[in-house]
Amino acid sequence: MKITVVGTGYVGLVTGTCLAETGNEVICVDIDAEKVAMMQQGNVPIYEPHLDVLFHRNIKAGRLKFTTSLEEGLSFGDIVFLALPTPEDEDGSADLSYILGVAEQIGGLITEYKVIVDKSTVPVGTAEKVVATIAKNAKVDFDVVSNPEFLREGFAVDDFLKPERIVVGSRSERAINLMKKLYNPFVRSGNPIIIMDEKSAELTKYAANSFLATKITFMNEIANFCEKVGADVDKVRIGMGTDSRIGKRFLFPGIGYGGSCFPKDVKALQKSGKDNGYDFEILDAVIEVNNVQKTILLPKIASYFEGKLEGKTIAIWGLAFKPETDDIREAPALYMIDELLSKGANVVAFDPEAIPNVKRKYNNEVSFSDSMYNVLENADALIISTEWSIFRTPDFNKVKELLNNPVIFDGRNLYDVDDMEKEGIQYISIGRKKVN
Ligand SMILES: NC(=O)c1ccc[n+]([C@@H]2O[C@H](COP(=O)([O-])OP(=O)(O)OC[C@H]3O[C@@H](n4cnc5c(N)ncnc54)[C@H](O)[C@@H]3O)[C@@H](O)[C@H]2O)c1
Repeated sequence: MKITVVGTGYVGLVTGTCLAETGNEVICVDIDAEKVAMMQQGNVPIYEPHLDVLFHRNIKAGRLKFTTSLEEGLSFGDIVFLALPTPEDEDGSADLSYILGVAEQIGGLITEYKVIVDKSTVPVGTAEKVVATIAKNAKVDFDVVSNPEFLREGFAVDDFLKPERIVVGSRSERAINLMKKLYNPFVRSGNPIIIMDEKSAELTKYAANSFLATKITFMNEIANFCEKVGADVDKVRIGMGTDSRIGKRFLFPGIGYGGSCFPKDVKALQKSGKDNGYDFEILDAVIEVNNVQKTILLPKIASYFEGKLEGKTIAIWGLAFKPETDDIREAPALYMIDELLSKGANVVAFDPEAIPNVKRKYNNEVSFSDSMYNVLENADALIISTEWSIFRTPDFNKVKELLNNPVIFDGRNLYDVDDMEKEGIQYISIGRKKVN
């Protein structure tokens, strides 16, 4: 099949590349000329494990192309994916200007039947708005399908190639048949393509992300309470998670959820509720608790330094909002950096992939190191904010030797509390007993 993907970011590029991998011809459109030139020269503009192999293979096979021209893109594909940003607007709602801006142009550019697919995360009712916007200028038939994406950054290629489910929201048989034909190669093991109406599909994505954000936040509150009463959240987590109704995943406490999806999606569902006369009280609490959780280590750090953070040098391991990505959108590390800088501390940071993105944001305010050990040299403390695998078994002798004080504030609970005690490291983590 011939496919067009409009918006070639984390979702669009993975979608385009994986669809090419199953033999489709794909053209990816992006407004960012620099990014398009980079891809045309054979360079992957983001860090996503395994994407590069598929990217190069499909370019070489002539199945994957890139352009800045929406007109060229629309004249190509039978199915047109919109993988455009839907960032948080000032009032918390999802900003639909990217989607509706492109929809406005689509109407005038299509000359034959197309299926337009909302792959972006969009509030209930967006498909209707996209239909109305395209219809203003369209002279040919078209269908708009809601097909929310559930891939996780860091596992995006695997998630796309082997999805647990595919949700297709449409009431057009013609569009549903085309979508099934496109996706059948990805569900050969029997995972479902779930067909529903557009609104239910749109809400499915927000409900899933908000539920996961709530699960994390609940565990963060349990962890905070563990500290008050001397319980160990790791024990509680395992005790709870073995109940199959609860499940083991998404129970790890930490310094709050971040990333390009959960924060904005929870807020967008909350706002969508308000707009429709419904108060999502549980989401109000989730947002509030998460805001505090992102900087929950700071009072502990301040107390360690007896309130005097000015002039202290704090090393940070991990800047990306989670491992295996260079994405720093809403990363808890950035909230900590802002607070530390505002208290007069110096920040030196290391991350395996995200340094270029953080550099762009902070200029010279933060120093960076290309090694997880070099960054510790003459630092007064270490904060761990992303659970990259390389941080899991460090050489603790080296860590102690390089740090001015043997103290680690771990926002991801990477190490065993007793092991740290044996190492002679003061170890402050989330929801577990402290080593004094
Ligand atoms: N990132 C994720 O893990 C993830 C997962 C599931 C769903 N989503 C949703 O998918 C959507 C896209 O997210 P993303 O992370 O890929 O965003 P992104 O910011 O990485 O990519 C968006 C791309 O769209 C391009 N763009 C902007 N305006 C354009 C225009 N007018 N024409 C062509 N291209 C344009 C940008 O240059 C950028 O390359 C969002 O709604 C997001 O919520 C994201």
